[in-house]
Amino acid sequence: MNTKSLFLKSALLLLAYALPALAEPPLALVPQPAKVERGVGRFTLTAQTKIIVAPQTKDALAIGEYLAAHLRPATGLALPVGGGNAATGAIMLQLGSASKELGSEGYELSVTPGMVIVSAQQPAGLFYGAVTLLQLLPPDIFSAQPVTGVAWVAPAVKISDQPRFGWRGMMLDVSRHFFTKAEVKHLLDAMALHKLNTFHWHLTDDQGWRIEIKKYPQLTSVGAWRKDIGFGLDPKSSTAYGPDGRYGGFYTQDDIREVIAYAQARYITIVPEIEMPGHAGAILSQFPDFSCAGKPFGELGAGVHASVYCAGRDDTFAFLDNILTEVVALFPGKYLHIGGDEVPKDNWKKCEKCQARIKAEGLKNEHELQSYFIRRVESIVNAKGRTLIGWSEIREGGLAPRAALMDWIGGAVEGANGGHDVVMSPTSHCYFDYYQGLDHSVEPRAIGGYVPLRKVYGFEPVPAKLQPEQRKHILGAQGNLWTEYIASFKHVEYMAFPRGAALAEVAWSPEAVRNWDDFTQRLPVHLRRLELAGVGFRRLSLAEENPLGEWKPAQMAQEFKTLEWDVTPALHKAGAYGFELAYMKGACGVAIRWAALLLNGKEVSRDAHEAFAGAASRQNVYKLTVPELPAGAKLTLQVSLRSDGGTDSSGEIRLKPAPAAKKKK
Ligand code: ACM
Ligand code: ZN
Repeated sequence: MNTKSLFLKSALLLLAYALPALAEPPLALVPQPAKVERGVGRFTLTAQTKIIVAPQTKDALAIGEYLAAHLRPATGLALPVGGGNAATGAIMLQLGSASKELGSEGYELSVTPGMVIVSAQQPAGLFYGAVTLLQLLPPDIFSAQPVTGVAWVAPAVKISDQPRFGWRGMMLDVSRHFFTKAEVKHLLDAMALHKLNTFHWHLTDDQGWRIEIKKYPQLTSVGAWRKDIGFGLDPKSSTAYGPDGRYGGFYTQDDIREVIAYAQARYITIVPEIEMPGHAGAILSQFPDFSCAGKPFGELGAGVHASVYCAGRDDTFAFLDNILTEVVALFPGKYLHIGGDEVPKDNWKKCEKCQARIKAEGLKNEHELQSYFIRRVESIVNAKGRTLIGWSEIREGGLAPRAALMDWIGGAVEGANGGHDVVMSPTSHCYFDYYQGLDHSVEPRAIGGYVPLRKVYGFEPVPAKLQPEQRKHILGAQGNLWTEYIASFKHVEYMAFPRGAALAEVAWSPEAVRNWDDFTQRLPVHLRRLELAGVGFRRLSLAEENPLGEWKPAQMAQEFKTLEWDVTPALHKAGAYGFELAYMKGACGVAIRWAALLLNGKEVSRDAHEAFAGAASRQNVYKLTVPELPAGAKLTLQVSLRSDGGTDSSGEIRLKPAPAAKKKK
């Protein structure tokens, strides 16, 4: 054989090996499983495919039916679900056979050309295995309409998967704006697609009471309705108007049971929230006796934040006990959320009864009165066999002994160190009512803030300051959809996704497999799934999400030098922006003395202040103004910096909201 034919032969051989691998598109699973091994070949769904469930428990059969129901619309295949032995061409759902280490939510999934086997210890794991199988098929599988011309194949893989955290949550505020049970179910469907397992239902607040309580019918007959939509919103942005034109709505107890059953079939636990002692305007408008003033305070509306329960009256607690009795009878989960956030203390300061309580109980102040209130409610909740959970502020004046904390403005480390369980939902990463884009002229009006997708994806639920032995107290993470400025369900979805997909990966996937670039490569396929499944979302804008540029050790010097980056792709709109120099790693940091923007090479904006980007950053956001951009304009960012204490620093330049001007004294 001459060298030429040897070369040809080895090239062909190489191709033969490389081709099957090349032919298989990358998997686009969201959230990314713990372990994935690609195999050779693919499994094909056909009219002969059977879903075989073993053993045939009620739960396993229901999961088989769920899978069949999701495979049917797009393919037109009505796959039978039943018992039987493993057979070629079948999808096997096996319960109780998987490794014990997979825990209650883990699963193994093996796809070979001959068979699919999903196995799990517990039904939840089997369910998640079925969800992963759906994602292995072409995204068209999520279409509600028949799709032709698609090969219904799943690539051969071996997956072993289980969640990092047991609380993978999403909260929906249905008080500020009301969403129907059909809409809530739609959100539960979208959650199931992301293996999110906890729906926190914010059912009561100042602006509306949404859960029927049989003992107190006026809570919903009157307290679920207000004069208008409020919050300065267009009345047409919602359809939640009663026959008399008032705005609102509520769920009957039958509605709630129906939603709970729907959630259970998707392995989602619902945590109801009944707000107290503050955010109680809707209930106290109906029962003013339980407020400190003891008298009606006018119509419900967007501005109501009027009242807290009187902590000095014993009948307040009897009243709440009656309400919670009905709530607990409906919701089977372990946790009962009692709110506890943002309790104004003015009423308590002025109230004779509250002051008498402070004296009688030997409390120091109104913060301790808040703690007294929560402890007393905790004993009611515990007596009903449930665990109380509340927002950060339930720590005020001392945390109730068995309570779990939902951290939105801190307290996780202190709570966990004190032996309390904690759910992480900080405003910094988990407030899905905050803006997700910087150009507010194209974003729907939001409450404020800036929580882009990348920020959510970068969230680490375990606080760095927590001692390793206390990490077990971090139950997981949750995204919060407060709806003051969100009146339609389409808008809810726009705020929820894809940030909810990022959060799902934060809460499910091992830290080691989380990778932003990889996530953004999987995301377009995932967004196609959502689109076909009828789930709304915000389109991905990588130019905005990704850093504008980075600096590396090789660019560092001990003297000031000017680095520059082409920022044209990310900036389209005139206005003031913040440019953050974000330190990423290295023993040293960088000292910065100015940043400037150049339009077609000519300086148009400059911020000259001294800053430092390092382990302890100082003033490292520069405010620069982008001018009107003529077509074809090139925009360059220049920064004058030098490394400080070495030359191993690396970092990123990120777009931020423009920093507010410093107040002059
Ligand atoms: C909250 O956002 N007030 C918990
Ligand atoms: Zn009082």
